Amino acid sequence: MFDEKLTLARALAKVTKTAERVRDRIPYRTVDGVFDDWSDTDISWWTNGFWPGLLWLTWRETGDRNLATWAEGVEGRLDQALIEHVGLHHDVGFMWYISSGARYRLIGGESARTRTLHAANVLAGRFNLAGRFIRAWNDDKTGWAIIDCLMNLPLLYWATIETGDPRFRQIAEAHTATVLQHFLYPDGSSRHIVEFDASTGAYLRTHAGQGYSDTSAWSRGCAWALHGLALGAQYTGRADFLAGAEKVAGYFLANLPGDKVPVADFKAPQDRANHKDSSAAACAASGLLLLATLVPERSRQALLTGAKDIVASLAENYADWDGTEALLSHGCASYDNYRPGWEDTSLIYGDYYFLEALTRLNGKPGLFSL
Ligand code: GLY
Repeated sequence: MFDEKLTLARALAKVTKTAERVRDRIPYRTVDGVFDDWSDTDISWWTNGFWPGLLWLTWRETGDRNLATWAEGVEGRLDQALIEHVGLHHDVGFMWYISSGARYRLIGGESARTRTLHAANVLAGRFNLAGRFIRAWNDDKTGWAIIDCLMNLPLLYWATIETGDPRFRQIAEAHTATVLQHFLYPDGSSRHIVEFDASTGAYLRTHAGQGYSDTSAWSRGCAWALHGLALGAQYTGRADFLAGAEKVAGYFLANLPGDKVPVADFKAPQDRANHKDSSAAACAASGLLLLATLVPERSRQALLTGAKDIVASLAENYADWDGTEALLSHGCASYDNYRPGWEDTSLIYGDYYFLEALTRLNGKPGLFSL
């Protein structure tokens, strides 16, 4: 029988124990049960904000001052990415909104505010005016936008609230409207990558990205869409963003297997069906709990039940309470043909969203939320 409070207590204890070794290193995934460290591997790597985010979520529940110190230590390391600048991409929201942005909103601090505003300006600077989308990556990918970007937009909404300058919010709303127009399939699933003509803004094509194919439904991409649209609805109050989130939520919940944790791609052929992605489940569960606070009463219970079923299965079937340093096993970063060894692993963002969902069940907002 799933016990929300007991599971939250176990998760907090585990993160605290792991933090005693990891401290202000920057983990991404476990190798032989031990978290790696990306502070020397790639300081601009998109997941580098999740460990401080996990520390802040835990600090908010326990008040353990060491956790705040280590989270701030990671923030200091990330300055190198801001200084180098050229390695940065649209995932500055993942990197700074739940590291320096969380510190600023939880305890204040001028350096935290400055870093977060710096990141918001980087993100706003990637907006393509003709296509009304935020450019995802660098090099020759001038017209590429990806569904994950929705999760970075709270950084822009916050920047408008913080500075009173509406440009940040205008960009976030314009990008989200483009997503509603070009990313969602009629069944409520989502594309991963859409390529536009960077000069004219015209739609060119869809790319599979981390999905199985360019017509399939990458489950983490669907989770980014669900959760990201719900965040957009929360920050703006827009009915079209809310309707989009509800549509993706309907698809996600209707296509979950018996254990409520999706395979890496909902539309992958059966021979790939054994590759689960616990991170997609965790991200979707936290997004469903947020969405449940935004919808009318008649729609609420199905979302709450769906979210709780996912969290219960993660706790009972995917959580590793004693062995490795991570909370969740069986995350799928990407198919092995893209990066060998990343198909079945523990992922720092899976742990982040699992704990975020548990704290939402305990009545607290997520760190991407208002
Ligand atoms: N943002 C990249 C991923 O979800 O793997």
